[in-house]
Amino acid sequence: MRSETMTATKKISLTINGKVCAGEPGQTILEIARANDIYIPTLCYLKGLTSWGGCRLCIVEIVGSPKIVPSCATPAVDGSKIITDSPRLHGLRKATLELLFSERNHICPMCPYNKGDCGLQHQGYLHGINNVRYQYLYPAMPVDLTAKYFGIDHNRCILCGRCVRTCDEIQGVHTLDVAYRGIRNQVVVDMLKKFSESETCTSCGACVANCPTGAFFDKAAAFRGPLASCQTVLTTCTECPLGCGLKVFVKENRIVNVWGDPDSPVNRGHLCVKGRYETWAEPRERITQPLLRDKDGKLQPATWDNAIATIRKAAKAAKKTEKALLVAPRVTNETAQTITKFTGKVDRLAMYVTANEAALCSEPSFNADAMRKLEDADAIIIIGAQPSRDNGVVAARIRTTVRKREAKLLIFHARKSDLDQYANICAHEVSLEHQFWNEVAAVLEGAQKPAILYGPNAMTPIGVTVMERLIKIFEGHPGGQAPTLIGLPVGTNSLALAGAGIEAIEDVGPWLDAKPLKFLHIVASDAPDGGAGLLDEKYVSDLLNQIPCVVVQAGYRSALTDKAAVVLPATIWCEKSGTITNLEGRRLSLRPVLPVSGEAREDAAILESVFA
Ligand code: SF4
Ligand code: SF4
Ligand code: SF4
Ligand code: FES
Repeated sequence: MRSETMTATKKISLTINGKVCAGEPGQTILEIARANDIYIPTLCYLKGLTSWGGCRLCIVEIVGSPKIVPSCATPAVDGSKIITDSPRLHGLRKATLELLFSERNHICPMCPYNKGDCGLQHQGYLHGINNVRYQYLYPAMPVDLTAKYFGIDHNRCILCGRCVRTCDEIQGVHTLDVAYRGIRNQVVVDMLKKFSESETCTSCGACVANCPTGAFFDKAAAFRGPLASCQTVLTTCTECPLGCGLKVFVKENRIVNVWGDPDSPVNRGHLCVKGRYETWAEPRERITQPLLRDKDGKLQPATWDNAIATIRKAAKAAKKTEKALLVAPRVTNETAQTITKFTGKVDRLAMYVTANEAALCSEPSFNADAMRKLEDADAIIIIGAQPSRDNGVVAARIRTTVRKREAKLLIFHARKSDLDQYANICAHEVSLEHQFWNEVAAVLEGAQKPAILYGPNAMTPIGVTVMERLIKIFEGHPGGQAPTLIGLPVGTNSLALAGAGIEAIEDVGPWLDAKPLKFLHIVASDAPDGGAGLLDEKYVSDLLNQIPCVVVQAGYRSALTDKAAVVLPATIWCEKSGTITNLEGRRLSLRPVLPVSGEAREDAAILESVFA
């Protein structure tokens, strides 16, 4: 046993371009070269994906062997001598690049990836390609612009397969494949569909981010300028409680593109459609100055001084028992501190959450390193949560753990989702019969690292029953591990706000109706719907109509702001600073990416000017 352990941890040593380099057994030549700061050109290789060895740009020579090998797909051998750069390798790489250029229509000046973002063009420059010796094939390849946020121009595809592997290995849906033969080889969607017809694509955009050429391109980013010339700002996605790290590309006070932060321990560079596109590529009507309702009932632009004076007058006219403050579960921890300062100024203070989420907030619990635990799990049980809809990166982690690592998946939720197809057991209606629970126990037999992901609907009586039965099953496993419990709220910062003492309510109507109000201040913050979701609840709209002064502070115009007496412009995700606490309990920073739009102000500053 001891000697086995020693063998497993023994390092290997090889010489690359005359430099002695240490590595781990099983590492490829490319990995060891990179770890030792030795450059080898690549195109189809991407850290984090399986090696494919298709482009042949990373070829190296092994001294004593007549063969050249792709370094990205060749395990390093202890004691070997490697040459990464020689006239022979340079010539072969150059010929490979010329073939790649000649196979499709790489008209660089017409490509949005021109001037520094294209891996193929970059390699062309590095290898001194100023003409192509082979005849161009000029194939008439299709362009698919039917996806909402991105397009694919097959004329610029080099068939490196990075998009195919990304979609399969990181997003876990396997929408993409390569079809046809020879020069007709083509990346295809759902076996020959257009993106708009795809039933599997989640629009996460990971394929676009990982494409080395201009074949996949973001529509909103195209022609906004090369990424290579942008500043980058690292911040946090506030669209769900996972808090993925964002790398935002900015030029001339404009967002050029949004990628996942590869160094974020939460998402490791991956994003879902909300974080990657919806926050900036989706047209939304910003509120950039205060609005006051005039005597004809129309909202008119106003100065901050006038708006605040109007609000203060209305607040003064109301007794404390007639005043309330209602906040979205997405404000920052710092805004939460400000809010709690004003508890004594109003009769009621609460945050509005989705159905059954109040119970989840009543005992806020975080699970440190939940994403890593999810990846390591050998059984994942989802109760009353919809990660595919609400937390795309969590769903991706579940898919890859189940599909690639063969973890068991059990789903207990009333609503269907794409994850159902991977589940060993999927119960949209929970049976209490012995046979069903015997099947559940059989599937979980032997699970050593189970993880239970529970969302708001796990707090219903049936959800609690499911949870209790599962815990009993695990307790009955001799030597088995207790499951790790990962709470999955819907509100971005609802757990932390609850922890700060802000009460969570899910029935806003009764809360409003408890005592007649004369003054209600709603902090919708930068909710994408401008807080309009509040109006979905029966009677809320009518109840708001009965309150003489409703103030809404929001980033975006909506049916809710249209009902307000005063609208105050709030900053949005890319203008904010502060922190949120994600479901793992990490305190994650929001950093301003752009200057504040118009006269918008931070949530806390607005609350200070209204209530202080
Ligand atoms: S957008 Fe995401 S899901 Fe769709 S093809 Fe690309 S990687 Fe796959
Ligand atoms: S579309 Fe891009 S990532 Fe996909 S195979 Fe073509 S060049 Fe590679
Ligand atoms: S999973 Fe959540 S935090 Fe991550 S990008 Fe999507 S919405 Fe943002
Ligand atoms: S990078 Fe190694 S073969 Fe493409």
